Amino acid sequence: MRINPFKPGSPVPVGMFAGRLNELDKLEHGFAQTRAGQPINFLVTGDRGIGKSSLLWFESAVARGKVESGDFGYFKFCVASTQISEKTDLVTFLKILQKEIAREVGKTEVVRKFLAETWDFLQRVKIMDSSIDRARKDSEEEIVISDFCHSLAETVARITQPGQGEDRREGLVIVIDEADNASAELRLGYLLKTITEALLRASCNHVCFIVAGLPDTFDKLRQSHESSVRIFDPLPIRELEIKDRRRVVELGMAEANKLNVAGKITIAEDAKEQIALLSEGYPHFIQQFAFSAFNAAKGSEITLDDVNSSAYSRGGAIETIGLKYYQSDFYDKIKSDEYRQVLKIMAARGNDWIKKSEIRAEFKGTEGRLSNAIQALTSRRIIQKDSAKDGVYRLQQRGFALWIQYFGDPKSAR
Ligand SMILES: Nc1ncnc2c1ncn2[C@@H]1O[C@H](COP(=O)(O)OP(=O)(O)OP(=O)(O)O)[C@@H](O)[C@H]1O
Ligand SMILES: [Mg+2]
Repeated sequence: MRINPFKPGSPVPVGMFAGRLNELDKLEHGFAQTRAGQPINFLVTGDRGIGKSSLLWFESAVARGKVESGDFGYFKFCVASTQISEKTDLVTFLKILQKEIAREVGKTEVVRKFLAETWDFLQRVKIMDSSIDRARKDSEEEIVISDFCHSLAETVARITQPGQGEDRREGLVIVIDEADNASAELRLGYLLKTITEALLRASCNHVCFIVAGLPDTFDKLRQSHESSVRIFDPLPIRELEIKDRRRVVELGMAEANKLNVAGKITIAEDAKEQIALLSEGYPHFIQQFAFSAFNAAKGSEITLDDVNSSAYSRGGAIETIGLKYYQSDFYDKIKSDEYRQVLKIMAARGNDWIKKSEIRAEFKGTEGRLSNAIQALTSRRIIQKDSAKDGVYRLQQRGFALWIQYFGDPKSAR
């Protein structure tokens, strides 16, 4: 058996990360600014599977100085990473950040003691009971946030100007992934705006926030505080260019030959090209097509036929992508065949805008049922209504549209 290096299910390891030169440039520029006391925060947004978490992993390694930056040499930041779920509340969120920081910098007894004292207040804060009234909850939260900022500023001061024998860091990078999951109660936009402003008031100028999530993260932040999005430089992540798609495959093949020293394996040019084309630049498609083709290859070369047969077969790449990324949207959130019919009609246009009248022309069913379907899909955030034009809609995600197109009759996906 050959060990398959492709990573269809998880963010890509640093050694297999391909492309994204502009995004890397921007983030590293931000690190250099933060190092110089002029911090920049980023809001990384993009479709499911477009590569947000992979980019964050890679740049966390750059910030820590594990990977050299093209323009700025080796950084030396402390990096604290967290992911948001629907259940994350304020206290849990702050505690996780504090623990992450302690894990990274609390290497010596002296620093551990300093951290324990500085963060003492957080250990005593209890998760607020949901039954207490909003006004009281808000005011208690204000105090917790203010104490948090104070401790954070002290910690950053300590790691940037350390005591004897302690490691000096250039500052702190706080990475917050899956921010689209944030509940309204967490008030993430408000929270981040309050923290960044408090840090600046405390002359704590060496902290950079990177927040990442699906494209609607932007609206979520704005709903919790109108101007909170202004503290971020937007960094939208798009499909990979053709040459970078090939590079994803090449880096995987190089890894394969490290893992399988005994049985070298190559990929035919047309096979590589086909993966690049079929994927339309979605890295999770590339990893899955390459993974499936790698497993299908019989000899020492992955052929075009291996790519095609493993993509479309039952249990093949396209079906697997759907199971991993889109199944819940397609089936679990949508119980009716009519809803799926609407999605199929819309998916034929990718995620371009389409008029309701155009959907109606192909829809087999009554007007009322079509309206219901469109309304249900909109409220479940699977399709989006054009706020500027009446009766115009589109699918939220192009990757999802592609999957529906590829997969043809949705019934066969079961
Ligand atoms: N630059 C890259 N080079 C190679 N592979 C990548 C790259 N970016 C992402 N991938 C691959 O694409 C897939 C999706 O990546 P990732 O999990 O980072 O996306 P995401 O945007 O965070 O997705 P989600 O919205 O589900 O959180 C993974 O299989 C990962 O290995
Ligand atoms: Mg992710």
